Amino acid sequence: MLLALKANADEVGREAARIVANAVRRNPALRLGLATGNTMLGMYKELVQLHQREGLNFSSLVTFNLDEYLGLSAAHPRSFRYFMEQNFFSHVNLAPGNIHFPDGSIKANYEKYCASYEQAIRDAGGIDLQILGIGRNGHVGFNEPTSSIGSRTRLKVLSKDTIDDNRKFFAAGEEIPQCAITMGIGTILEAKRILLLATGSSKAAPIAAAIEGPLTASVTASALQLHPDVTFIVDQQAGAQLKQQEYYRRVLEMTARLTPDRL
Ligand code: GLP
Repeated sequence: MLLALKANADEVGREAARIVANAVRRNPALRLGLATGNTMLGMYKELVQLHQREGLNFSSLVTFNLDEYLGLSAAHPRSFRYFMEQNFFSHVNLAPGNIHFPDGSIKANYEKYCASYEQAIRDAGGIDLQILGIGRNGHVGFNEPTSSIGSRTRLKVLSKDTIDDNRKFFAAGEEIPQCAITMGIGTILEAKRILLLATGSSKAAPIAAAIEGPLTASVTASALQLHPDVTFIVDQQAGAQLKQQEYYRRVLEMTARLTPDRL
């Protein structure tokens, strides 16, 4: 596990974009797992700039998004698909056929649909690099506390914490989704490399629990302890409750010296 502690959210976004851009330069046909949420805005902004300024080429990139609200179509302004269109897809040269997204508008055959999303990931050859945020309750994707560590893409009932967190994005009186389609923890753990971003003081407790707490389905991000290649990029506020900051700093320094390709 690598942890980079950055001064602020802008630096977190820049560092994440640097890692993604390097991965795309090394392998233009990279299979990239994508996440939504405010934490991701800086990274997408920077990637768009790299495309516009330096011609970073996304034409062969294959993407799989992590999750989507059930009941919201791609055109709904609160859907994760809409978020991705606004902040990334419409600004770069991704081939539309290479974008994969859970369809929140399905109304039946959920298990079959979720199995087909898993199959699409397998058919593409698996995910090379998975980007993750983290919820205040320690979830990744929409794998709410108590989700099975072996879970696959499926329907998930959202916890009260998550629904409350999301309330601010919906107008008064607008119905807030109670369920989502999300990649499972088992799906996420099969990615070759994982990058988790966190910013702000509301993420300090879940970050400490995920990294230094016990492996538990009650904090689904702690399942990343099972993965051999995870990098956390957090700002000072999100890293504030970590006890071993000095150790992570030394690990990063030695990694830069001995195996710089990992960074
Ligand atoms: C939602 C998403 C998560 C994301 C989380 C944090 O719950 N399903 O994938 O990590 O929000 O969002 P934010 O970055 O806005 O704090």
